[in-house]
Amino acid sequence: MMDWTDSHCRYFMRLLNPDILLYSEMITAEALLHGSAKKYLHFNNQEHPVALQLGGSNPYKLKQSAILAEQEGYDEINLNIGCPSERVQKGSFGACLMEDPNLVADCVDAMINAVDIPISVKTRIGIDDYDSYEFLYNFIKIVSETGCSRFIIHARKAILSGLSPKENRSIPPLNYDRVYRIKSDFKHLHITLNGGIKNLDDCKKNLNILDGVMIGRHAYHQPWFLHELKLLDESAKYDQLKREDVIELMYPYIQDQLNQGNHLKHITRHMLGLYKNQPGARSWRRYLSTHAHNSDAGIEVLQNALKILPKAA
Ligand SMILES: Cc1cc2nc3c(=O)[nH]c(=O)nc-3n(C[C@H](O)[C@H](O)[C@H](O)COP(=O)(O)O)c2cc1C
Repeated sequence: MMDWTDSHCRYFMRLLNPDILLYSEMITAEALLHGSAKKYLHFNNQEHPVALQLGGSNPYKLKQSAILAEQEGYDEINLNIGCPSERVQKGSFGACLMEDPNLVADCVDAMINAVDIPISVKTRIGIDDYDSYEFLYNFIKIVSETGCSRFIIHARKAILSGLSPKENRSIPPLNYDRVYRIKSDFKHLHITLNGGIKNLDDCKKNLNILDGVMIGRHAYHQPWFLHELKLLDESAKYDQLKREDVIELMYPYIQDQLNQGNHLKHITRHMLGLYKNQPGARSWRRYLSTHAHNSDAGIEVLQNALKILPKAA
């Protein structure tokens, strides 16, 4: 998620759950090839497994970007065919590409043939008036004929003019049945559902039918949920990890980042929701928001924030 799932965020999320696949923010092939690839591709080894999400519509540039991503050590490359923003549409990529499944197939084909890591596609159930089941079926059919077998489907259509990206994440209604039907028609494909997942029951229900769920906003706003996901595996032992343990596990990482000249606020902003729905959640949030902004703020800000939490939290 742009501006949210940066490397700091993913490092923190990995501490909460070792088993989930984490995704980068979308990086355009254009930016990667003409900017500082090292900077854009940077991630911490602790983040594995981690997928790089690419945006673009030029098969050659996506192929070159995929090669760079594989060299850097990413575990998967995901092509964004779901973003409805005006900027992205001007660049002729994102959700508007659903209208041109053959071009998407060319892009995917170029990447599949260039790297050994899996290529996945994140898409919507439709765009604008192209919102029939047949439209989605045709898109998945053409793209999967390249050999791409992993699809993440955000179960609402995108409206390409008149709605902001934020509105496009809530106004078009969710239609999970469309995604279930795709799975039933393409049993051999790995289908992940995205959109509106907020609790373990939602996960369980969808995982009974599909191959995966992708959780966006809820995981960011309530990161402890990522730890609770471990309860989905009934055979696994639910360890006794506490929120405070996760904070302490962040200290060496934070110190290292501070030593490199990074600011505390850029890391702690991803931790604000850690105590959501717990006693002291507001104090935690407020303390971090206020004190992490100082340019010389260090780990003591987190230590002090912990001290003001009620003992039971
Ligand atoms: C701030 C923000 C940035 C996002 N950036 C991306 C992005 O870069 N690539 C992408 O595929 N989806 C992006 N999304 C959409 C989410 O990945 C997801 O599809 C959407 O929020 C619906 O899932 P959710 O209900 O679990 O949040 C973004 C969402 C938010 C809130």
